[in-house]
Amino acid sequence: MRHIYTENSHLKTKVRLRTAAVLEIGKPKIHVLDAFAGQGLVWKAVQRELPEVEITTLGIEKKKYLAPDVIMGDNRKVMKGLDLTIFDLIDLDAFGCPWEQLAICAERAPEVPVAITHISITLGPVPQGLLELNGIPDEWCKIKEVPHALFGRWRWWWWEQYCARLGYNRSDYELHLDKSAVKRYEVVWREPVLDHP
Ligand SMILES: C[S@@+](CC[C@H](N)C(=O)[O-])C[C@H]1O[C@@H](n2cnc3c(N)ncnc32)[C@H](O)[C@@H]1O
Repeated sequence: MRHIYTENSHLKTKVRLRTAAVLEIGKPKIHVLDAFAGQGLVWKAVQRELPEVEITTLGIEKKKYLAPDVIMGDNRKVMKGLDLTIFDLIDLDAFGCPWEQLAICAERAPEVPVAITHISITLGPVPQGLLELNGIPDEWCKIKEVPHALFGRWRWWWWEQYCARLGYNRSDYELHLDKSAVKRYEVVWREPVLDHP
């Protein structure tokens, strides 16, 4: 089988986006929830970029015994048991589409910016839950005559609508094409909305 994912393809892009976010948060100490922690390489690299900022990370990782200071488990369960508001930034550095984890962030810590890696196979389906929040009825996705490609064609439009519906009204992102995969690297924020009289 052909191996498509490496743990940290486009490491430079991930580090650049996170470094910019940390600088924008603008605190001397930054607390990060690293919900797809892996080996923690991304945040080690961000720390090297910003030696003047003290960055602490709490990692969650489903693989067992990867590092002694990382919570072992499925982040969808673990995040629901944590106070997410204590973090300055939440990192969802996923292999697929972390739409469930983003919904947990939006519900439990709507003001905290979220760094996201979102990888999609070009012709792969758009996750059902994402379409559902956008008002596509469940039954539509089960009709044979409605091909998944119909939704896939506007994948990023659905995704942006999804983020907006969760309350994230700003995204700093980059798209990378990698053979049959499209990779979207971004940081989403909830910006204050100004009231117009
Ligand atoms: C792209 S890698 C993360 C790389 C990492 N950010 C780094 O800096 O080295 C994604 C990691 O998330 C883990 N993972 C995938 N789904 C998960 C889940 N539901 N809960 C916790 N960890 C998960 C995978 O085992 C993998 O190690």
